[in-house]
Amino acid sequence: MNLESKVSDRIKSIKPSGIRKFSDYAKTFDHVISLGVGEPDFTTPPKICEAAIKAIQEGKTHYTANRGLLELREEICQYYNRKYHVSYDAATECLVTVGSSEGIDLAIRTFVDPGDEVILTNPGYVAYESAVKAAGGQMVKLPLNEEHEFKIEADVLESLITPKTKVLIMNYPNNPTGAFMNKEELAALVPVIQKHDLIVISDEIYSELSYDEEYTSLASFDEIRDQVITINGFSKSFAMTGWRLGYVLTNPVFLSEMVKIHQLGIICANSFAQYAVLEGLKSCDQDVAKMREEYKQRRDYLVKALNDMGLQTFMPKGAFYTFSNIKFTHMTSEEFCVALVKEQRVAPTPGSAFGEAGEGYIRISYAYSLAQLQEAMGKLRQFLKRFQ
Ligand SMILES: Cc1ncc(COP(=O)(O)O)c(C=O)c1O
Repeated sequence: MNLESKVSDRIKSIKPSGIRKFSDYAKTFDHVISLGVGEPDFTTPPKICEAAIKAIQEGKTHYTANRGLLELREEICQYYNRKYHVSYDAATECLVTVGSSEGIDLAIRTFVDPGDEVILTNPGYVAYESAVKAAGGQMVKLPLNEEHEFKIEADVLESLITPKTKVLIMNYPNNPTGAFMNKEELAALVPVIQKHDLIVISDEIYSELSYDEEYTSLASFDEIRDQVITINGFSKSFAMTGWRLGYVLTNPVFLSEMVKIHQLGIICANSFAQYAVLEGLKSCDQDVAKMREEYKQRRDYLVKALNDMGLQTFMPKGAFYTFSNIKFTHMTSEEFCVALVKEQRVAPTPGSAFGEAGEGYIRISYAYSLAQLQEAMGKLRQFLKRFQ
């Protein structure tokens, strides 16, 4: 039997993650400084770890409610209200998920029928495209560009809308560019979203890593609040990538449809991780602030170092990535990264891993220590000498 022929065409059309592909290649070299992975180098705050251990010792190791512990949902809703001035009802508008990744997958599966058009930014985070393909949706790429600091512009968005358009997926602060959209810039999109009845999946996973301006959650615009599916999680803000905990906030009608998939496919998110995060939301604001301050210092160092060595890099206002322009080298982003890892053992991610519009750029994650970043910048400077 031809095993591959049995796999669904939709799944066969999905490409493996370009980030993983390149970081696996980089791992074949010894002593590489990898700047590729978007994973905090900090350990999870001690209070969160202690709460998890306590929950295990107290036998809180059983299934929780499908939607997650009610106390945790209440705490999440209070947090969104306190921080971002959006009010959600814990009983009917909040679902605790296995990382924000599950939330993204649930949202796409809940709203996308075969043939529906889904607008995705290009460049953009890699997981959206595969989920849209698995649902049979048609991808429509919204180009972001450096001149506009990789923000979505209302007229570009509107020009892509057709009678088949159903969903817009957006993510600010942004992976891979570090771009940020403030309240005014988001407000400009609201009439377009409203006029065309768009469903917006707003991936707000980096909301707590906003450095220069106050963060605005898309659902805080009352006129579109019920059109927005807010996705967030604890991987980045609490340095909890391995714990796998996230959440979805949206109106009760949408949420109960998403819960159907979650309760049959997942049952519930990890019980003791839920108790741990409950403690984190109550008492770890200071830990988050400390990590944010450290990322900001790294960002400031990195952006200056990159620009000083001739790699044009705009100031990212959020997340923990820089996106540098390498077009003057006349190399593709993959050629550039391959040569850099071979010669200097430094491995950023080729921009092309995030879509065609990422070609000509490299993404550097600054979820690495300042010492590592400094060493890597010295090597990158050495590598660039040939272009002077
Ligand atoms: C934009 C974006 N969304 C979602 C995720 C997935 O995060 P989680 O660990 O919460 O599943 C990532 C991880 O890198 C990301 O960059």
